[in-house]
Amino acid sequence: MDKILDVKNLRVSFRTSGGTVKAVRDISFELERGKTLAIVGESGSGKSVTSKAILGILAGNSIIESGEILYDGKDLLKISEEEMCDIRGNRISMIFQDPLSSLNPIVKIGRQITEAMLLKDKGNRREAKREFNEVLGLVKQNSIAALGEGSRAQVEERIKTFENFNAEAIRMENAYNTAKNAAKDLIAKTEDFLFLTSKKQKVDVKGSVKTIADKLKTVKNEFFSHDTDAKLDAAAQELGEAVRGFKPAKDQSVPDRITEAVKRSEDLLRELDGRTVPEFFRIGFYKMQNPHADLHGMPVEELNAMTREYLDQNFILDFLDMEEKGVRYSFETALEKKKQVVETLKAARGQFAGLKNSRSAAHKWANDLAKQVEDSIDRMEIVKDSSAYTFRYAVNDAIDRYFNAVKRNPKEEARFARQSRRRDALIAKGRTVDWKVVPKVVYDLDELEDNVEKSVANMVSHYEEYIEAAPGVDCAARSVQIVDYLKDRGSEMVHRVTRSMAREKAIQLMEEVGIPEPRIRYNQYPFEFSGGMRQRIVIAIALAANPDILICDEPTTALDVTIQAQILELINKLKAERNLSVIFITHDLGVVANMADDIAVMYAGKIVEYGTADEIFYDPRHPYTWALLSSMPDLDTKEKLDAIPGTPPNMIYPPEGDAFAARNKYAMQIDFEMQPPPFQVSPTHWAATWLLHPDAPKVEPPKIIIDRIERMKKRAGGELG
Ligand SMILES: Nc1ncnc2c1ncn2[C@@H]1O[C@H](COP(=O)(O)OP(=O)(O)OP(=O)(O)O)[C@@H](O)[C@H]1O
Ligand SMILES: [Mg+2]
Repeated sequence: MDKILDVKNLRVSFRTSGGTVKAVRDISFELERGKTLAIVGESGSGKSVTSKAILGILAGNSIIESGEILYDGKDLLKISEEEMCDIRGNRISMIFQDPLSSLNPIVKIGRQITEAMLLKDKGNRREAKREFNEVLGLVKQNSIAALGEGSRAQVEERIKTFENFNAEAIRMENAYNTAKNAAKDLIAKTEDFLFLTSKKQKVDVKGSVKTIADKLKTVKNEFFSHDTDAKLDAAAQELGEAVRGFKPAKDQSVPDRITEAVKRSEDLLRELDGRTVPEFFRIGFYKMQNPHADLHGMPVEELNAMTREYLDQNFILDFLDMEEKGVRYSFETALEKKKQVVETLKAARGQFAGLKNSRSAAHKWANDLAKQVEDSIDRMEIVKDSSAYTFRYAVNDAIDRYFNAVKRNPKEEARFARQSRRRDALIAKGRTVDWKVVPKVVYDLDELEDNVEKSVANMVSHYEEYIEAAPGVDCAARSVQIVDYLKDRGSEMVHRVTRSMAREKAIQLMEEVGIPEPRIRYNQYPFEFSGGMRQRIVIAIALAANPDILICDEPTTALDVTIQAQILELINKLKAERNLSVIFITHDLGVVANMADDIAVMYAGKIVEYGTADEIFYDPRHPYTWALLSSMPDLDTKEKLDAIPGTPPNMIYPPEGDAFAARNKYAMQIDFEMQPPPFQVSPTHWAATWLLHPDAPKVEPPKIIIDRIERMKKRAGGELG
């Protein structure tokens, strides 16, 4: 399982004049790469708060009481705003319910899409270089460790070779990109020219065509194949001849010979732009070994194949062999250490109780443990083990929260008592008092102590899982992955995004999200778009930076039903094409039927049921899930919708037991008294309801649900058959 986001024990509250709103109360979930997780629940259940916590955009009165949000080796709750800025929008994007709120009404659509791309460019190149050097350094270090000091010189030489030809590759790719950008730039110019003249707009025909003709030579590049230079020269000449003697007409019409010539140039440029991209990584190696080889003129496909074989034979197979030994060494050393860490951490359980009188002793204890955990990280893992990287933060933070509460609670109690006394005294004297006492915020020390214990226990179970999965790890595959990683970083170092490239990419994106005539739409304002089109634009903006994770917070509630279906289909399509991981938030279970892989049902700040989409739809266990299912519109029957009776609880004073008890006709006494734990229904399915306790009376879901499940099964079966 490849999890990309891991939310653990998240609690979020809001300070308000009426008291502390406990909006999210200890929820945990995981998002797998390429999967969709739906979070479903009524208004106010904490869905948006959860997604905003992930993006670090909670309101100013929010308090994160506890929890971790692990992503790419980091805890998003602990990183600096600067780091968060880098992740927000770039790696994790969000689409909101109302598209207008995400668009600037007075900026043209195209500009709004390209802005996102241009912004992140420079930082990316720097980051890519840093990552490249770091990983190559690790390859060196571990290969030497695995092969012995005697092989140092040989390893170093290979690393050096790798660096050298990568540098050569970067140089060539840079030149290639410059030519390619020039082509894209010119395509945009020809497009604009043809579009404006066809609409009889006033255009400096002679000037524009001459500019295009002049710039054609900037497109030349040795990798655009042998016939290109001549074709570009011929096109330039044709353009020059076409405008010779041209005089602007009164009606702005342009003779066909000019339009035709521009069209032909455009076709040529498009053809060049669409040609196979050279594999610079391989070509770089070839060129380094054969500095005098003339690559000009060889078709790129052939060049790619030839240099691949050359690289394999003369370098990469040996390199991979060496690297794999290093990867295995790193993995196995770390694995042994992890086994020890599990023992150490197990022995450390319960120790915090004895450290409660000294904050510094507690931190020392935590840091000693953290050091061992950090020492057991396999640094050669490309997919970083977030839990291990953030363990130090997690324990120390939990400890700080505990000690801060120890200090703050008595003060807060005293303040509250003092102010209440004063107010009561004034009232007793018969005065009218127009001020309220701010409610007290005291933290539950047992719970905070528990959090410290939990962070240690979480690490133990995480490592135990890791150790169990260890025999399945394929070090050869990992070595290939590392070379690919280095190759990609090398390429990113040169990937400059220019304005015209951004424009082309934006137009491509607009096409991808289904905007007709994107070249015209590019220059329009948001008000010129319909609601559904606007939401498509918002999706394009969200995708502009090529994120890993897309969070959709009720993206279709503002749209009518047919448009809704189109947008859902679009999100599904993009998810599959880009291997996106999606968190889809909605109050309508019906919407996620064809989208979600997994579903988390939320009520009053807690997840009450969690399972695969099939499990939630065909085998729901929590009465709240039943209620949601029966209130879901159904096309097959004309039956009346069952609205869920009652209203959600006041989250300033959340109920003791199952928060849904008061609205649940199946509620038992214990539901009002004690929070039900999650009961496992299958390895992927659990529900927090006392109905699943072995001693509970057996309760069937309501008839309407059973009938509905039958129908759904039939329909699904019918579709299969
Ligand atoms: N800034 C805030 N200050 C106080 N309370 C807040 C704040 N933001 C959210 N809340 C409260 O947190 C709880 C959860 O809100 P949230 O926005 O997550 O609900 P939701 O599940 O997204 O509902 P909806 O379907 O209406 O969007 C609600 O009780 C809400 O009133
Ligand atoms: Mg919401």
